[in-house]
Amino acid sequence: MRLLVTGGAGFIGSNFCHYLAGERPDWRVTVLDKLTYAGRRENLEELESGKGLRFIQGDICRPEDVAGAMEDCDAVVNFAAETHVDRSIQDSADFVRTDMEGVRVLLEEFGNHGGGTFLQVSTDEVYGSVEKGRSGEDDLLRPTSPYSASKAGGELLAMSYWHTHRTPVVVARSSNNYGPRQYPEKLIPLFLTNAMDGQRLPLYGDGMNRRDWLYVEDNCRALLLLLEEGRPGRVYNVGAGQELTNLEVTEAILEAVGAPRDLVSFVDDRPGHDRRYALDVSRVSEELGWRPEVGFQEGLRRTAQWYMENREWWEEIKSGRFREYYQRMYSDRLRRAEQREEKEL
Ligand code: NAD
Ligand code: DAU
Repeated sequence: MRLLVTGGAGFIGSNFCHYLAGERPDWRVTVLDKLTYAGRRENLEELESGKGLRFIQGDICRPEDVAGAMEDCDAVVNFAAETHVDRSIQDSADFVRTDMEGVRVLLEEFGNHGGGTFLQVSTDEVYGSVEKGRSGEDDLLRPTSPYSASKAGGELLAMSYWHTHRTPVVVARSSNNYGPRQYPEKLIPLFLTNAMDGQRLPLYGDGMNRRDWLYVEDNCRALLLLLEEGRPGRVYNVGAGQELTNLEVTEAILEAVGAPRDLVSFVDDRPGHDRRYALDVSRVSEELGWRPEVGFQEGLRRTAQWYMENREWWEEIKSGRFREYYQRMYSDRLRRAEQREEKEL
């Protein structure tokens, strides 16, 4: 198999490439990645030193970049996206560009070069907030953030290529992933690394929003199954059924790092913050036999250990451009939280 992995230098994409190197060592993998702020070439360093992986820096929105990378590839897994909800609230332009237009360019080029499956990696956020019950694949899509709306647009476009052109598209809607190499803007790596440095943990709103936490390797196993055995024209939910409030996740992080509870600050909420996501995963488990294997405690233990052992990876990020982002996102919120805390004393 000759596989194109777009966005392979990011969190899930790089974990997927590492997973493939162990599971399908004879595959030839090409990674196409723009190396935005979230893409880290060092995530693939070990793999690039072998012969199994070719890296191309390029943009999925540029047909000429995609055509070159796709040459000789049988199948595609598209991870490339702008992925952080908070950033999409501040500026949605790159989200619409990459998460929709980028998918269109990939699909057009795949029509010319491909043959195997086009796996579009989507998200449980396309269902919007689900107060009760679980989302099934045929439920209405009600995305609420510019991020989730762009992801919904991308996957709908991909599915339209199946209906119109019979492009063999499979869509995966995964829940919140966590694990090694996740950029420290997301809840778990941000709080782990802040707690390791004795810095405040800015918890949004009342901390009672719920997410279903999926260890990244379990997701990678599901994605490989979908690539090889998923039915074209079909959508598959992938979730672990490990639903926790953000406060519960925060407490588990404090315990994993041995940090005190008074680091937690309740800060102004994310605008339009979805309360809960929850997936019905019976399709992927009944059709393909997939089940999550890593429980939250064990997954968090492995993740915390990775961040402890790889300080230079995240310290380099956090001491660079990330500082401006953090300042913009959190300084006013943390100041207001401190003022509230002082009043309460
Ligand atoms: P990430 O932000 O860590 O990585 C995204 C990667 O895409 C980066 O390497 C970046 O450089 C690359 N990229 C961005 N724009 C590009 C462009 N125009 N051309 C080429 N490359 C580009 O993201 P992630 O968390 O690993 O998510 C990967 C995919 O999985 C995304 O499609 C995301 O929507 C989806 N997803 C993520 C989660 C999660 O919890 N992280 C859950 C469900 C679905
Ligand atoms: O559900 C899948 C989605 O999970 C993916 O599609 C997205 O790409 C990924 O970023 C993630 O989105 P979330 O918005 O759920 O993840 P995030 O880590 O940003 O936030 C998780 C929860 O924690 C959410 O309820 C907001 C809250 N939060 C987040 C941050 C960064 C805080 O309370 N404080 C924070 O500082």
